[in-house]
Amino acid sequence: MLDLTGKNALVTGIANNKSIAWGIAQQLHKAGANIGVTYLPDEKGRFEKKVGDLVEPLNPSVFLPCNVQDDAQIDSTFDQIKDQWGHIDILIHCLAFAQKEDLSGEFSNTSRNGFQTALDVSAYSLTRLVQSAKPLFREGSSILTLSYLGGVKVIPNYNVMGVAKSALEMSVRYLASELGPMNVRVNAISAGPIRTLASSAVGGILDMIHHVEKVAPLRRTVTQTEVGNTAAFLCSDLASGITGQIIYVDAGYEIMGMTE
Ligand SMILES: NC(=O)c1ccc[n+]([C@@H]2O[C@H](COP(=O)([O-])OP(=O)(O)OC[C@H]3O[C@@H](n4cnc5c(N)ncnc54)[C@H](O)[C@@H]3O)[C@@H](O)[C@H]2O)c1
Repeated sequence: MLDLTGKNALVTGIANNKSIAWGIAQQLHKAGANIGVTYLPDEKGRFEKKVGDLVEPLNPSVFLPCNVQDDAQIDSTFDQIKDQWGHIDILIHCLAFAQKEDLSGEFSNTSRNGFQTALDVSAYSLTRLVQSAKPLFREGSSILTLSYLGGVKVIPNYNVMGVAKSALEMSVRYLASELGPMNVRVNAISAGPIRTLASSAVGGILDMIHHVEKVAPLRRTVTQTEVGNTAAFLCSDLASGITGQIIYVDAGYEIMGMTE
């Protein structure tokens, strides 16, 4: 029943084969979607090569650099998508960044610059992408972002990223309210901890994963594929009545009150 045949799905945030965005892109492709990919460009073009090689089996019809801190790059991305696709059915926002020194120690030590960077890349970017993508959405289009429990509860070392996720989750609700009358849906998946490039910057991530494996109802954490499957569902017509929601894909960890 899950059929995304003919849908244009733009996936941001693939860095390598551990990326959650890679799990999502694979499952969207499996469901029949036409995939487009943006990557974070670097001076030596390493990401372009690495991500390009990785996504080749999905035959992306769009493959573009897009640093979400660069307005010109965002506008150019959606101009090119307009030319090539005409419209977007699915937009996956699966990226975040905070300076490593702001992901451990005391939260009150967060620098102004560190706060601004984390909130800009990890929260504002969703709104900014939607701003440029809005004319390309049509009835039934769907937007999805990735959050974490640290946006609603205090998690050791998550610090400024928790504040960014909180802003991101509220952005989901405001965007859902704005775009709902166009029948465009906006949701987030709050994923359990997974070892990735981004999560390895969070102090004690392995301890967090082991803790989840001990106390989550399913006694494990989740995989990129599981997040990808829920993403495919949320972006499909099967989820046509769901918008503005934060869906936990975390092996049930979020429901637990006593976790010691
Ligand atoms: N790994 C986890 O445990 C976990 C849990 C819950 C939520 N998440 C969220 O999932 C999303 C994906 O992270 P991940 O864990 O797969 O790590 P990842 O390192 O694979 O992905 C992060 C991505 O962000 C991109 N990025 C960073 N700065 C950017 C910029 N300025 N412009 C464009 N792209 C930029 C990177 O290139 C990378 O592709 C993030 O929002 C993260 O907070 C991760």
